[in-house]
Amino acid sequence: MPTQLAHIESVSRSGATVAASEFPLFDELNATIAHFDHSPKALIQVLHRAQELFGYLREDVIDHVSRELRLPVSKINGVIGFYSFFSRVPQGKHTVTVCMGTACYVRGADQLVRGLNKLLGVEPGDTTSDGRYSVRCARCVGACGLAPVLVIDDDVHGNVQTARLKNVVRQYK
Ligand code: FES
Repeated sequence: MPTQLAHIESVSRSGATVAASEFPLFDELNATIAHFDHSPKALIQVLHRAQELFGYLREDVIDHVSRELRLPVSKINGVIGFYSFFSRVPQGKHTVTVCMGTACYVRGADQLVRGLNKLLGVEPGDTTSDGRYSVRCARCVGACGLAPVLVIDDDVHGNVQTARLKNVVRQYK
């Protein structure tokens, strides 16, 4: 089929072996890379798009970005490690983010981290064994007036106390 062949050509040009089911994802990623004219300056935007498409930043995806933006993998890994919103491991169905900015910290964000550990059995950076929740920490999420803040997926929960933690988290099944 012509469409399929076009995919195979585009994949082989980049030198990667890709499962056929992922051709559309790489096509989308390539469209973003082309949109930024393969500029290394667009690394953050490209990584965001890659994570959006693949769920996390897999090694083969990073290799692909490295080739397309002509950037060393070591540099890309450095950027991924610097920003907490990038992940190199598969994420759970829901992402639970504890804000550790100053306002949240002084209002007990560390207690929320401990509470989540007790409730879900994972540390920040980990995913529960059932794949339901990933827990992570972030710097100020811009809702200091609501401190301490928990962000679950795209929902901001303010004034979260440990006693309320279970009810807040378990809304997300
Ligand atoms: S410090 Fe948590 S929202 Fe600003």
